[in-house]
Amino acid sequence: MPEADTSKAEKNFHEDVPQKSPGFFLKGSQNLDWGMKNRLSRIFRPSSGRTVMLAIDHGYFQGPTTGLERVDLNIVPIMPYADALMLTRGILRSIVPPTLNKPIVMRCSGGPSILKELSDEHLSVSIEDAIRMNVSAITLQVFIGGEYESRSIKNMTKLIDMGIQAGIPTMAVTAVGKDMKRDSKYFQLACRMCAELGANILKTYYVPEDFAKVTSSCPVPIVMAGGKKLPVIDALTMAYNAIQQGASGVDMGRNIFQADDPKAMIQTIGKVVHEDMKPAEALDMYDSLRADAAR
Ligand code: R5P
Repeated sequence: MPEADTSKAEKNFHEDVPQKSPGFFLKGSQNLDWGMKNRLSRIFRPSSGRTVMLAIDHGYFQGPTTGLERVDLNIVPIMPYADALMLTRGILRSIVPPTLNKPIVMRCSGGPSILKELSDEHLSVSIEDAIRMNVSAITLQVFIGGEYESRSIKNMTKLIDMGIQAGIPTMAVTAVGKDMKRDSKYFQLACRMCAELGANILKTYYVPEDFAKVTSSCPVPIVMAGGKKLPVIDALTMAYNAIQQGASGVDMGRNIFQADDPKAMIQTIGKVVHEDMKPAEALDMYDSLRADAAR
């Protein structure tokens, strides 16, 4: 094994030079098979190369999360505004209309609840069932530095192998333990490890300092997780900054479904992601959509 990377030499991330992917629009995906590329083209819009993924899988470890108590009433109406949906097979089969025709990013890990050690996960969906549900990607949590770090990596490489057999891309979600430091260095480590081990998409948190180092050192697309509910302007600014610093989209949950007007919020996030709308203009858009809906 090489020694830990303690070199004092300045690293060079070439943050201003986008990685080339000749022949395909999506970073690091140009050498994948047709089925993988077709599924990725459903999740990421080929016109912008970006996605607004709506994450509603929180119940798999924390039960009826605020805003997700009634997915049929609160979430189904906003699904048409998402580019892709990240959710569990239980919600998919019990509530999501099959006529919706949105790409599904299927949560395939689980086990512990919020009452226990969250990194103690196992795979929870077979590849046969993922194919049966016609999913566009499979996904799981990876706990770098967590108690069950190695098992979660093993879960990931197993899921990636299953996905490769079926032509289904895998998205790894970098989960951060309660007491762990969320900084650029940590996410560089976590994202690069998952990409090196074969993940096709990374989902990770935004950090205000050096986020471009996380995206530039990750050879596959990164989508930004939203995290806990923020004031609307802060959530819009965070999404804008992440996109400008190399993210290929967002996978947001609470900042959309816990907003005062989730439908207005998801449409506004769409403008920020696909059209580079600046935060102040986006806030005006959100306020005016909200006002229209109240009339
Ligand atoms: C949490 O573990 C789930 O995977 C969520 O999908 C993820 O946290 C993103 O949702 P939020 O934007 O609410 O953080």
